[in-house]
Amino acid sequence: MCGIIAYKGKKDASKVVLEGLKSLEYRGYDSWGIATVADSDIKVVKKVGKISDSTNISLASGNIGIGHTRWATHGSVTEDNTHPHLDCTGKIAVVHNGIIENYQGLRKQFSSHKFVSETDTEIIAHIIEDYMNQHIPFDCAVAEAVKFLKGRSAFVAVDSDSKKIVAVRKGTPLIVGVGEDEFFIASDITAFFNHTKKVQYLDDNELVVIDNDAEFFKAQGGKIEKRVVEIDWQPETAAKEGYKHYLIKEIMDQKDTLYRAINQDEEKIMSVASDINNAYGTFLVGCGTAGKVCMAGEYLFSKVAKKHVNAYVASEFPNYNHYLTPKSLIIAISQSGETADVLEAIEAAKKKSSKVISLLNVFGSTMMRNSDKYLMVNAGAERAVVSTKATTAQLAVITLLTYATVGKLQEGKLLLMDVAEGVNDMLNPRYEEYIKKLAEMLKDKNDMYIIGRSLNYPIALEAAIKLQETAYIHAEGFAGGELKHGPLALIDKGTPCIALVANDESKDEIISNAMEIKSRGGFIIGIAPENNEVFDYWIKVPDAGNASPIVNIIPVQILAYHIALLRNHDPDKPRNLAKSVTVK
Ligand code: F6R
Repeated sequence: MCGIIAYKGKKDASKVVLEGLKSLEYRGYDSWGIATVADSDIKVVKKVGKISDSTNISLASGNIGIGHTRWATHGSVTEDNTHPHLDCTGKIAVVHNGIIENYQGLRKQFSSHKFVSETDTEIIAHIIEDYMNQHIPFDCAVAEAVKFLKGRSAFVAVDSDSKKIVAVRKGTPLIVGVGEDEFFIASDITAFFNHTKKVQYLDDNELVVIDNDAEFFKAQGGKIEKRVVEIDWQPETAAKEGYKHYLIKEIMDQKDTLYRAINQDEEKIMSVASDINNAYGTFLVGCGTAGKVCMAGEYLFSKVAKKHVNAYVASEFPNYNHYLTPKSLIIAISQSGETADVLEAIEAAKKKSSKVISLLNVFGSTMMRNSDKYLMVNAGAERAVVSTKATTAQLAVITLLTYATVGKLQEGKLLLMDVAEGVNDMLNPRYEEYIKKLAEMLKDKNDMYIIGRSLNYPIALEAAIKLQETAYIHAEGFAGGELKHGPLALIDKGTPCIALVANDESKDEIISNAMEIKSRGGFIIGIAPENNEVFDYWIKVPDAGNASPIVNIIPVQILAYHIALLRNHDPDKPRNLAKSVTVK
């Protein structure tokens, strides 16, 4: 969350930073700001709203610049709270990603300074200033400031007198780009990839000082040497390819991405399968949608491999580290590979010397570098904040793993190939049009419920996330069997309820649950391979056996997209959210 970019070199920094910020917008789009250093002055431009919506941007030129695109944590979405933040003299500017957990105490401690924002970030500029007032050089003052900060974060500070940039990584990503007589620092390589492919990775609790060169130090002191790594992969350039929004493009991409997810290196899959078989306790951890994939994985391992694995919401996982041992295995599932809660779960596991394997979609991510092994789900760049193609790719890989652990990799592959073909046929304009009609019927509803059983219970929860974040509808998923224990009281005449049906042993029971809702006036939308008299609206999906979670979520993705359009929401950038969740 929040995107950072900084530049020092011969080019006009304002242009480099502006262009970089646009590619970081997925990390936060509440507001954005740029500070440029020219002569001994810092000029700051700040705007509320999305950088992609901003027009007539006028920036001061200079050869040094820092920029930030914000996802608000402390302080509302205002210009004052937009980064960069300055010290009292206006000579030091700071941009920051993360949270300073002890900022309230620090604001009291440094209360002689004049604070103009409600943010936690601003304290950094003032602590640096305080040390510089004691004749400590800028870079050393930054190192002193770091000692005060609690929590995960990364920040970049610039000083207009020394013209140095100092960047600190303390739990959230920052990468240094090395060009010809120029340096870049950013939250993500894509922000400077047009300029250089040479990078130096900052690790946690390290800082880099950019002057005429880049010098790296441990935060607690001591110079370190950093290798320059030439990136030999191409970050995917995501284009909308004629679609109006990334979201619908990425939903439609599932015609190809499933094949790519299935087409894994078999040796790697078998090696992970053998890690699972040899582990004393396997734990699947992820957040949000990826967390629901973990839950589906738990069901799949039970059903396909007769194996008990445990699914946990990553933010809760550190509470269970009491029983982890060096023989435990953690499988972290994450699209971005940067989610703070998952990184913390990995850290908790590593403290117990447990093994960590990640299922990722972004190459070069922190999780990739912090794991003992990783598998890529190969969904390609996912630009819409709402996860779609990465989700089904994760589901495909976890399904493959369940079959691989019982020596049935080829059987699993065949099943998934059939499903990929089914999805290919299903994603056609007529199908989308049919779901769009349903979206028109549901667009004014305030509440929606989704029910599923067995493998499709986690998918009911995932469907609810899709409707919440895209359509801003109050949606909740339930296990079909739980209805009579409370939720049935919510059903009124016309309450829409989606029943996720698979052609398996759970089918008759979920149909009965749909009947129970219908008898109380509910409007039943059945997502199922076959029609049933209980359905008021039937959306056909391929008969996918143990891969039913993959096919059953796709119609809900399309439905959520069309309701969002009808309700005039931006389907690519839902309010209050961001793609890469780097705060806890
Ligand atoms: C929902 C969504 C989020 C993410 C979650 C984890 O559509 O995208 O719930 O799944 O923030 O993100 P990653 O997978 O990057 O760890």
